[in-house]
Amino acid sequence: MPLFPMRLVRVLSPLLRPLRVLVARGWLREAEVDVVLAWLHPAWRLNRVFAPVVGREWVSDDLLAVRLRCNGNARGWRAGQHVQLYLEMDGVRHGRSYSLTRVDAGGLIELGVRRQAGGRMSNHILDHLPVGALLELGQADGELYWPEQGAGVGLLAAGSGITALLGLLRAALVQGYAAPVTLLHYVREAGQCAYREELQQLMLRHPNLQVRWLLTGQEPEPGVLGGRFQAAHLLGMSGFELLACGPAGFIEAVRQSWGGGLQVEAFSPLQRLSEPGSAVRLDFARSRLQAAGDSSRSLLEQAEASGLRPAHGCRQGICASCTCLLLGGAVRDLRSGTTFAEPGQPIRLCVSAPLGDVQIDL
Ligand code: FES
Repeated sequence: MPLFPMRLVRVLSPLLRPLRVLVARGWLREAEVDVVLAWLHPAWRLNRVFAPVVGREWVSDDLLAVRLRCNGNARGWRAGQHVQLYLEMDGVRHGRSYSLTRVDAGGLIELGVRRQAGGRMSNHILDHLPVGALLELGQADGELYWPEQGAGVGLLAAGSGITALLGLLRAALVQGYAAPVTLLHYVREAGQCAYREELQQLMLRHPNLQVRWLLTGQEPEPGVLGGRFQAAHLLGMSGFELLACGPAGFIEAVRQSWGGGLQVEAFSPLQRLSEPGSAVRLDFARSRLQAAGDSSRSLLEQAEASGLRPAHGCRQGICASCTCLLLGGAVRDLRSGTTFAEPGQPIRLCVSAPLGDVQIDL
């Protein structure tokens, strides 16, 4: 039972500044301060962001809006950025990045979480995370911003790319953006048209906003905008600044079709992966060791070559004794070629090769 209401946690948070200074100078340990704060209220910490879930709302068949009330440490966050959300499942801490679709005064934020085939964390949030659950979040990141220049703004979203762009759109309309805005949202089927009711309401209230949903899973009817992205969809946006968010292939297609101002955010990590045999950077976090490596050999071999002695048994991916958490980057399973890129994902070092720079909890 918390000794304070959540509101007081936020109000009192700035008063912790002297403690933050003492921690920064090494005179106090943050973990010990956090133990005392967490005893007063489970969401209270010196610097880390904790937030209870305060609302859940399905905004399409496969996308859930999750609302959270942050403690006082979510400073400077903007809608349209993304934030890492952490969750413990079966004793393993998982983390995944979600877009901030809303950031309000008073610490209220909203994230868009889409169902992913085989996505353990996203599916757990959608199916099992109750209102009242307390979550930890990382700090917000992301460079997309609302352009003030140009004749208007074109927003191109594929799938869950809508979440980052919706955050920016909501904030811009609230602030009175009056130039034309065209939003094209590409989804496979009609049930995936996320935030449809809200966007229709926004169109009624803001005549400068046009929203089109383009179904990619069926042939477009004659005269109706539809199907996968093509350059012709940009007609009427001359002089606009474009913002595009979606998988790497979608972003590349937009890039090739547009010569004007363009900001992009791709959520497929594979676009930055190395070819087999390329040089990569290995970061073994718990050992505080960084080393040069390559994307051909297993992480077990490369950790040993760097002087580490990871636990192992069979060296064939069978016994699981070499299992570690992937903290950042992506790896390839040398047996199946499957790629894993979810932070917090357990991997077997003996059969995993890095694809680009990686950070391992070893
Ligand atoms: S050593 Fe047995 S699974 Fe890696």
